[in-house]
Amino acid sequence: MYCAIETSFDEAGIAVCSAAGTVLFSVLSSQVELHAPYGGCVPELAARTHLSDLPQLWRRMPHELQSGLRYMGVTAGPGLPGCLLAGVNFARGVATTLRLPLYGLNHLTGHVFSPFIPPRAEDGQHATPALEFPHLALLVSGGHTELYLVETLTRIALLGQTLDDAVGELLDKVSAMLGYGYPGGARLEELARFYPGITSDARYDGRFRLPVPMRGSGDLNFSYSGLKTAVVRIARAGGDGSQLTLAEEEHPSLLAALFAAVAESLWIKVAAALGQHPVELVTVSGGVAINGFIRERFQAEAQRRSLRLAFPAPEHCLDNAEMIAWLLRLYVDAGIPPAPFDADGNWNPGQPK
Ligand code: KG4
Ligand code: ZN
Repeated sequence: MYCAIETSFDEAGIAVCSAAGTVLFSVLSSQVELHAPYGGCVPELAARTHLSDLPQLWRRMPHELQSGLRYMGVTAGPGLPGCLLAGVNFARGVATTLRLPLYGLNHLTGHVFSPFIPPRAEDGQHATPALEFPHLALLVSGGHTELYLVETLTRIALLGQTLDDAVGELLDKVSAMLGYGYPGGARLEELARFYPGITSDARYDGRFRLPVPMRGSGDLNFSYSGLKTAVVRIARAGGDGSQLTLAEEEHPSLLAALFAAVAESLWIKVAAALGQHPVELVTVSGGVAINGFIRERFQAEAQRRSLRLAFPAPEHCLDNAEMIAWLLRLYVDAGIPPAPFDADGNWNPGQPK
């Protein structure tokens, strides 16, 4: 069995999967409430909390699973250095005690392959496609907005990335500005659903005009700071620009316009990448991939051109250890050996360590 530890950011997770890839055990300790008063993750606080949470999470693993472990994996980067170190040190200790080979794994690669995690018996309704190469992978999370051509398990070419904010970061900043707290993506989606003038393929019909970022940039990069400024300008119009002036009943409409612009900007780049790399499968992963508007927009486009799409199950979108255990299992299966590694805050996906 394959065990993985993930502590790249403000969540600590431990998961075990079987030789077939089925998740047998998974625990996650969320720090959302701990960081909420600060409006974002406080790195030192997150790292210290991981140190005390990990042994407690480990004790929840049933003894028979512990004795069946054959391989260990740990997220070694990218992420917050203190958080990564907490997980890596803990994993080293456990792997040494249990005499297990230890793999340092890439958090982004974990997201990229998360749409292929087999469903658990109890949630078999999530149809998981078979892993195939090449495919395009769009990763949209709180820290990353990146588009990859996935050629093999270890050859993952970065085609484009955000030049400033990630999509999740944009949503979290807009949420803070409108007074809905951190993190904001899920709450903003709930609010936008109240607006009736958004179509089933996430096109907005209403009074707010927002730019679709990087529409004509001619490359596969993204940018979201201009869209954030446009939303702030509308929300604070009329005063001296420092106060929220937009009436609360107008928030759903503005947020629907925002999600439509985001979905459009993401789709445009995927469509352009498909022009250069005509693959048959596109995946969308990361915390923002939970978003229904993005899913609806992509599904409508995929139907039009008989393209196949794969999204992770919702519990595999946000950071989790299951995706790292699954990646470990893929590496072992492919005969990739473990190699010496350090916790590394900056690390591109694809290269095993
Ligand atoms: O993948 P993730 O857990 O963290 C990173 O590795 O960065 O993603 C977290 C992000 C946050 O920015 C959060 O606001 C966003 O995912 N998010 C959503 C939704 N639920 C969470 N964004 C849009 N719609 C949602 N329903
Ligand atoms: Zn992540």
